[in-house]
Amino acid sequence: MRQTVAAVTGGKGPPDRATGGQGPPDKTKTLKPPLKWAGGKRWQVPHLRRMWQAHRDRRLVEPFCGGIAVTLGLSPAHALLNDANPHLVNFYRWVQSGLHIDVEMENDKSLYYRHRARFNELLETGQEDSREAASLFYYLNRTGYNGLCRFNKGGEFNVPFGQYERIHYLRDFDHYRTALAGCTFTTTDVEAVPLEKGDFVYADPPYDVEFRQYARAGFSWRDQERTARWLAAHDGPVVLVNQATGRIESLYRSFGYDVSFASGPRRISCTGDRAPAREIVATRNM
Ligand SMILES: C[S@@+](CC[C@H](N)C(=O)[O-])C[C@H]1O[C@@H](n2cnc3c(N)ncnc32)[C@H](O)[C@@H]1O
Repeated sequence: MRQTVAAVTGGKGPPDRATGGQGPPDKTKTLKPPLKWAGGKRWQVPHLRRMWQAHRDRRLVEPFCGGIAVTLGLSPAHALLNDANPHLVNFYRWVQSGLHIDVEMENDKSLYYRHRARFNELLETGQEDSREAASLFYYLNRTGYNGLCRFNKGGEFNVPFGQYERIHYLRDFDHYRTALAGCTFTTTDVEAVPLEKGDFVYADPPYDVEFRQYARAGFSWRDQERTARWLAAHDGPVVLVNQATGRIESLYRSFGYDVSFASGPRRISCTGDRAPAREIVATRNM
């Protein structure tokens, strides 16, 4: 069964400003992630920049790169970016080789379902690495409900239409192509990422969700444990972030990480409060 990736926070249907509207490049600013992706860490970049400063000649490794907000924010000369989601990685690889999208892109329900059906046909016929699949993945991500990436048991992408008021679509990704020139992409499980001596690792696994039966994005407590253990064995600087649950804090401390906390963007809680998410930032060898 294909894995499920949870939704980007935020309501349905706001004007699409979060990741769209990149417009002409402002060289003093970093690029916004081209995709909507759950758990984006753009808000952490100013803090991470201070940590990265002393290590900026190292290779940056993101074993859970997701929306690549951190890489775009830190602009490393060399990076290894990995994610278990092969469609995401296919999109980035096509961006690296100069993606120009020529499929029709409109914020239109019937076009969305036609493109969704075509994307599933490509997956079914072994064409998931194609440029067309990368183009449709971008369109579906921007147009579908909350930037979700979800598949049914039969492996079909099944996210419904998003009902946004406005969507800004990019056709050319040249600015991203330049920004990603020094990056290598892999799509594998975290522990198979080929770390090299001295790599600077920024790891942002799917959140630990305590007190729930299910694991977010198929990422279990055992996966949290093996990630913390694997990174504790690395000789270079490591930044490991997560939701600040009690058991995550104990786990990271037990492997000798230095632990601090940060307030994430406000999210609507189940009581309707706009509570800032409490995040843990665990470091080693800094
Ligand atoms: C919280 S997101 C990362 C967000 C990213 N830092 C950003 O700013 O957009 C976690 C990512 O881990 C990926 N993932 C889940 N299980 C994985 C595994 N076992 N190995 C590698 N990546 C995995 C998911 O596909 C998802 O993109």
